[in-house]
Amino acid sequence: MAEQVFANCRVVTARDVLPGGVVVRDGVIAEIGDTTRAPAALDCEGDYLIPGLIELHTDHLESHFKPRPKVFWPVEAAVVAHDAQIAASGITTVFDALRVGTSKDDDVSIGSNMRRLAEAIGRAKTAGVLRADHLLHLRCELACDDTVPETAAFLDDPNLRLISLMDHTPGQRQFTRLDKFKEYYGGKTGMSEPELEAYIGERLAAHDRLAAPNRRRVVELARSRGIPLASHDDATSAHVEEAAEDGVTIAEFPTTADAAALSRRRGLYVLMGAPNVVRGGSHSGNVSAQALAESGLLDILSSDYVPFSLLQSVFALSERLPGIDLPAAVRLVTRNPAVASGLEDRGEIARGKRADLVQVRVVEGLPMVRSVWREGRRVA
Ligand SMILES: [Fe+2]
Repeated sequence: MAEQVFANCRVVTARDVLPGGVVVRDGVIAEIGDTTRAPAALDCEGDYLIPGLIELHTDHLESHFKPRPKVFWPVEAAVVAHDAQIAASGITTVFDALRVGTSKDDDVSIGSNMRRLAEAIGRAKTAGVLRADHLLHLRCELACDDTVPETAAFLDDPNLRLISLMDHTPGQRQFTRLDKFKEYYGGKTGMSEPELEAYIGERLAAHDRLAAPNRRRVVELARSRGIPLASHDDATSAHVEEAAEDGVTIAEFPTTADAAALSRRRGLYVLMGAPNVVRGGSHSGNVSAQALAESGLLDILSSDYVPFSLLQSVFALSERLPGIDLPAAVRLVTRNPAVASGLEDRGEIARGKRADLVQVRVVEGLPMVRSVWREGRRVA
């Protein structure tokens, strides 16, 4: 039986910060307590030992697949580079967000690009070369012609463990304010004002034609395979009620405090972006994640587009908010996403859980990842 001993740590459990150590046997946490006398113990030098972080929604892989405008990188190399940054950020379980539903300006999710990325992840995972455990989160943009067949093409992928329902039609949800949409989208694409106006008209027409029937089909497909559903950018009580009726269990990035509060009342987990915490607000002008945390309405943080923001936001919240101690902040990125996504074998430093562990030292207020283990194996 392979045994590892971690000593001289501040062990962050689901409720406490305990001075002591952890014993791992065969990749599973076996004991928590005083390990100072164990021979061959790893001296953690007083650092925090926290559970490996669980990331439910990141499109970070896209930035490695398309590192420059119109430059596409080989998928295997993109996956490996993405994985390295994920693991070095303390994330041991990642749901890689892949998009389906193509609009005409989108050159990332066209053709078979997303399937190729999913297959590259599957091959690298089977070969045992990835540092983190990779699962798939399929983001379904509903107001597109190819949404349903593209979704169906993913259903047999064994890594598919989460599906989200998105509608980025301008004028609602993430972009209730058209000026914010134009600022974001014009900046991203370089479209002129008349081009933006024409584009908005097309998107509104596609929404009217496609969003409702596609939503029904995607919900049916997810249910047929027992895959958990997330709703995206819910803004109004009607959005939340529709999500709850559809059997959605995670509310991703609700854009208003009211939508977050109603999501909670309807039993959905409220997920917000860690970059929103780090930056002190939303880049789209929506509700602040920290404000939701202060009102007790935040369940899960996601690094969204900056992997390291996940760990950074945890320490920032626990330092800024007297009502949130370190174990509570850590739960937002470990136990809560584990429970919400049905991964009961991890997410906590507790006996019987996977030994996904991160050694963290705080230097001048910033948490530094010193070492990372997945199921007891050092991966970063
Ligand atoms: Fe969004």
